[in-house]
Amino acid sequence: MPGGVPDPLIAAKHGHIGRPVSRIDGPLKAKGAARFAAEFRLDGMVYAALSYSTIAKGRIADINIAAAQAAPGVVLVMTHCNAPRLNPPPKFLSQNKAAGGDDLPVMQDERIHWNGQPVALVLAETQEEADHAISLIEVAYAAEPAATSLSEAIGKGTETGSFMGEPLHNEIGNADKAFADAAFTVDSVYRSPRHNHNAMEPHAATIVWEGDRLIIHDATQAVAHTAWSMAQIFDLDETDVHVTSPYVGGGFGGKTLWQHQILAAAAARLSGRPVRIALSREGVYRIIGGRSETEQRVALGSDRYGKLTALIHSGITPKSPNSALPEPFIVPTRSAYAVDNMTLDVQVCTLDMMANTFMRAPGEAVGTFALESAMDELAEKLGIDPIELRARNEPDKDPVGGVPFSSRNIVEAYRSGAERFGWDMRNAAPGSRREGEWLIGMGCATATYPYYRMPGAAARITLSDNGRATVDFAAHEMGMGTSTVQTQVTADRLGLPLDKVTVRYGDSTLPGVILAGGSQQTAAIGMAVMSAYNGLVGELLKLAGNDSPLAGLKPDEVVGINGGLAHRNKPERFENYASILTRANRHELVADGTPPMPFELQHWSMHSYGAMFCEIRVNAITGEPRVSRFLGSFDCGKILNPKTAASQFRGGIIMGIGLALTEETQFDERNGRIVNPSLADYHIPVHLDVPEIEIMWTDIPDPHTPMGAHGVGEIGITGTGAAIANAVYNATGKRVRDLPITLDKLF
Ligand code: MOS
Repeated sequence: MPGGVPDPLIAAKHGHIGRPVSRIDGPLKAKGAARFAAEFRLDGMVYAALSYSTIAKGRIADINIAAAQAAPGVVLVMTHCNAPRLNPPPKFLSQNKAAGGDDLPVMQDERIHWNGQPVALVLAETQEEADHAISLIEVAYAAEPAATSLSEAIGKGTETGSFMGEPLHNEIGNADKAFADAAFTVDSVYRSPRHNHNAMEPHAATIVWEGDRLIIHDATQAVAHTAWSMAQIFDLDETDVHVTSPYVGGGFGGKTLWQHQILAAAAARLSGRPVRIALSREGVYRIIGGRSETEQRVALGSDRYGKLTALIHSGITPKSPNSALPEPFIVPTRSAYAVDNMTLDVQVCTLDMMANTFMRAPGEAVGTFALESAMDELAEKLGIDPIELRARNEPDKDPVGGVPFSSRNIVEAYRSGAERFGWDMRNAAPGSRREGEWLIGMGCATATYPYYRMPGAAARITLSDNGRATVDFAAHEMGMGTSTVQTQVTADRLGLPLDKVTVRYGDSTLPGVILAGGSQQTAAIGMAVMSAYNGLVGELLKLAGNDSPLAGLKPDEVVGINGGLAHRNKPERFENYASILTRANRHELVADGTPPMPFELQHWSMHSYGAMFCEIRVNAITGEPRVSRFLGSFDCGKILNPKTAASQFRGGIIMGIGLALTEETQFDERNGRIVNPSLADYHIPVHLDVPEIEIMWTDIPDPHTPMGAHGVGEIGITGTGAAIANAVYNATGKRVRDLPITLDKLF
């Protein structure tokens, strides 16, 4: 910490941190014993189905529900005519507690705001009956002109976007002049399409009212945010909303609060019955936001040695009128390279569409595609190896923020990655390697994602006189290993074996407001657990009193070890937890911790890094691209659990393969309709698309973060698109700047 001491767990050599502990939730999932949101079964429960608008803007002129109401099993048909009065959802990030993608009113009037907006909800005794009844509803619309064409929307005017409260615009020096004066330049436009969320588990919730108490079993990465937001919408006391989310089948930024939970809660209130709502795959496309398309210009100027003199990264992305999150594609560029003249700018135009939202590495995923493709283009123009070009432009402090980096070993990640991957086998001349029908190429790119630590975290440790500890926090397990890693962290802090620690999470009644987002949940909880532990140690020393071998010691003189506390340097001065509590006649001891504000972010420029290496085979006859090898060499501080971290890296890279080669939401610009809302038509990578992915890391701890760790959840998707595009260029001599890189764009 600035002015403080590094987290002692960084130096712990024989603890649980850094061990490849298998997921503690794994056996429950394999046995089917882990209960997901759509698997809660409540007495008298009914099933919901939704009808979605087929126009982008206008109003409902007439809605005929008679046939649906008369259909078998139907309990309720809800439209704007009979929905209870609700407040609009607070917009994402407002007050650090809001979970909603936008603040449009939910089924409160006849207005239509996007093609796919829910216009009716049916409750029935079975899902099949609800789905059938929904098909009987007839809606007549009065359509109005809608903004659904990107070029027309741009023509109507744009404004500078903002992200996390900061304008998406930075300027240092004079980039235009430096670019005009540069000896070597590249200047290209890169495009990325709209993307939709496709978590394995579609969004779902099981909801019941107990009097004026609202209970929601949700699939969410924001339990406490959802509880608070639902309290605002339904005019309830925050403590009267209880959200649980013990397991989430993938989140990626999309598992937050959308209309389905609100509508299902409203219908549960109207009908007096518990409600289960499970979106179909199509439903996810209609009412869950995704990533917006981008059009990005990257212009680089350099001297003949490859020293960057100018960097311009600018462009356009649409957002819906009521959403808070334009795609912030310039964020990774702010701290990428040492350059004195830089202009970064995101212009935003408005489309009548589903609100866009977070999707794994919002900004970095597509921003690094443009920036790192351009670096490859410049390297080729200069005749310099692309890794060497990056090394020559390695900054010694953050070029925009001016502060030093907390820990940045990207050059080392490239060096070790290049060695493992066999980068020296690459021939810089495109199209020079061929085996039969297959052209083979190699490419690399930098991966990066910021270190965040959002305020609001808290944790509670309960220590029992039987020597066991329980730690509680309102966090989430989306399959990434939260419960496992936090068990390791707590066990190491306290000096307990793993099986003496129980972690409880996924419940809004537990302490803290913690988002499983921004790749910061692990750091946020880790800091909260550290605060709680510090409080616990103070109390334990008081309880130990003068008869203990610990008598007279101060909290910073002891460590948790062997099931108790010991003097840092004189381990014989030791007393175990059970003994301290028993002598003090205490059954248990509870300590709450609230971490300090993320002061580290004011002192340091903090990021996760990676060097991505791709080998691709492109069929010379058909143009079919196949990733044949991939290596991610990461620099993400101390790796807390090699097994779960490697899975996060691999998962991100697989999503990056989709971004590079297959994923594209087809948005009909005539009417704003998404026309490929299914996994048959929207192509995510399957096993045959994914080669063996090698993962390695520097494991160099950051002295300024809890446990020395950086986030690992999102970085894998960053840099991957460019590494693949650069490999495609090396294989074929064809530079594709328009994602996805499909075979029709190659030959
Ligand atoms: Mo991440 S897109 O913040 O879940």
